[in-house]
Amino acid sequence: MITISEIKNLGLIRSKDNLEKLLGLYEVIADVELKREIVSSIGRQTDDKIIFDFISGNVYNCGFMDVVYQMYRTCLYKGRTSAAFETLGKEIRAHFKNEVLDKMHEYFSYKRSHVGKRRQVIKYCEPILLRGNNVETLKKIAENSVQLIFTSPPYYNAKIYSNYHSYQDYLEDMAQSLKACHRVLEDGRFIIVNVSPVISKRPGREFESTRYPIHFDFHSLLIRTGFYFVDEIQWIKPESSVKNRNGGYQQTHMPLSYKPNCINESILVYRKSAPFLLDKNIAGYDKSFANDEKFESSNCWYIAPASNKNHPAVFPKELCRRILKYYSFRGDVVLDPFAGSGTFGEVAIEMERIPVLCEQNETYCDLINEGKRYVQL
Ligand SMILES: C[S@@+](CC[C@H](N)C(=O)[O-])C[C@H]1O[C@@H](n2cnc3c(N)ncnc32)[C@H](O)[C@@H]1O
Repeated sequence: MITISEIKNLGLIRSKDNLEKLLGLYEVIADVELKREIVSSIGRQTDDKIIFDFISGNVYNCGFMDVVYQMYRTCLYKGRTSAAFETLGKEIRAHFKNEVLDKMHEYFSYKRSHVGKRRQVIKYCEPILLRGNNVETLKKIAENSVQLIFTSPPYYNAKIYSNYHSYQDYLEDMAQSLKACHRVLEDGRFIIVNVSPVISKRPGREFESTRYPIHFDFHSLLIRTGFYFVDEIQWIKPESSVKNRNGGYQQTHMPLSYKPNCINESILVYRKSAPFLLDKNIAGYDKSFANDEKFESSNCWYIAPASNKNHPAVFPKELCRRILKYYSFRGDVVLDPFAGSGTFGEVAIEMERIPVLCEQNETYCDLINEGKRYVQL
């Protein structure tokens, strides 16, 4: 049985013999990983006529999308100098209507049109507090000028500071705020949202309560706005710190009456879509920006909740610390568009980042700026 590295070696040396061997292997090997590598190695060879006939003859019946991606990749590279490959690539993309092919096309076109170009961006140097609705106030911030967004939006009508007429109204407002966030965030950077389901009180004993899966709905909002899903981290709290929901079941032990205690909140990690890899975002920083050696190895973060007499839903500082450590660099501009008491800004300053905070409640704004550290816009 031939190995991946043997196939790679066949691809590295360009010769009639190797091309023939690779074409022969393609016919007899069924394993998708090997087939994919064979196609990639065929693409490295130089006899374009044979390669073109091979791809056009096999791409629509090769059975695996992973193999199609390799054939399309060859069309992209060879299409730079060959109209025939360029047309074949277009036909393949039109035939499959596949999101990975679209992304490959986007990356490739971007790379070709941006060789050597660097975009000028505004760099804020002082903490900024924006008083008012973030949809409006973020207009004062330049586009592409923020390197990280971390926030916890209102959980519908769960707390005193929000009163939406309907869940639909709430989602529409959140969509507007996310759009404003998208504009200011640098391409390829992270937006991280802390949300979890909430339950509305029963309007009477004869009615059911409603449970809103806010984190699921945020997924659609984020995707529609132009971010894509990267990770979900679970913030896990001690069970003693959350509301007890076991009571009913404990009394009867009847199936269907079970309600677990909710000890987790979601930390949704998304990236602003960009036609380049994260490496390009990292490339602007030298090695002295690297973190220390300690890190959280899993997506379950055990952190006790925090409380604050002035605000009913504050971030624990440890949560902010971890987000800033893993998703931003020293000196970055970091935004919390729903800042509340401003915990994120406080930790950001401690960690030598430049916070931009938005808050519409005047009392909370005064609280944030008690130490007068913020420029207010
Ligand atoms: C969940 S709290 C954030 C708490 C914050 N993480 C902290 O550590 O204190 C959400 C905050 O968003 C504010 N808010 C809601 N809608 C807003 C909007 N459109 N623009 C600015 N602030 C808003 C509320 O007043 C509330 O203080």
